Amino acid sequence: MIEITILGQRYQVPEGLTILKAFEWAGFHLKRGVGCRAGFCGACGTVYRFIGDYRLHYALACQTVAQSGMVLGTIPFFPAQRPAYELSTLQPTGETLLGVYPEIMTCFGCNTCTKSCPQELDVMSYMAAALRGGIENLADASFDCIMCGLCVARCPAELVPPNVALLGRRLYGKYLAPQAEHLHVRVQEIRAGKYQAEIQDLKDLPLAELKTRYESRQIEA
Ligand code: FES
Repeated sequence: MIEITILGQRYQVPEGLTILKAFEWAGFHLKRGVGCRAGFCGACGTVYRFIGDYRLHYALACQTVAQSGMVLGTIPFFPAQRPAYELSTLQPTGETLLGVYPEIMTCFGCNTCTKSCPQELDVMSYMAAALRGGIENLADASFDCIMCGLCVARCPAELVPPNVALLGRRLYGKYLAPQAEHLHVRVQEIRAGKYQAEIQDLKDLPLAELKTRYESRQIEA
């Protein structure tokens, strides 16, 4: 067993549990702050420090093993700036980013966002790309963001890097990314009914046979 502190109360929990499971072992019934349990949804952003160490650490509770001496807190839900926009009316330019999120000009480069990212993304650098209008860089550097919001909670300029990056990825995906022509052709073929007979055959298969075919499918040549 190890000893951890959760919201000011000490608990003994088995060694080797994730922080999320340690919360549950200690009796917390989580309704917020938990989602996929697999590191994808960003719901479980957690802050902790160790007794005797002044530094704050940031983690996804479902992906981080609890350690003896951890003093843990949770991040409550708080509303973040997210303006509405119609993507089809926007241009893939830096002016668009600044038009939707003018506050990004107030970033003063403290790098707190990068330090608080549990995905270890260089958040400050992709915010700098946004400021320069570098939509491709913004989209690429933020690709692994899971929108946990820890950087939003910590930013002293009250910026919202995940939402800025999301707009960047949407602009890039809609206007700048190379088009997958073969996909376009295949969608047209499907719409024209070219594979209708094959699809119907699959639909008529017994479930066990369908599973066998799925498991033995060729994913890539
Ligand atoms: S619960 Fe979804 S990332 Fe942790």
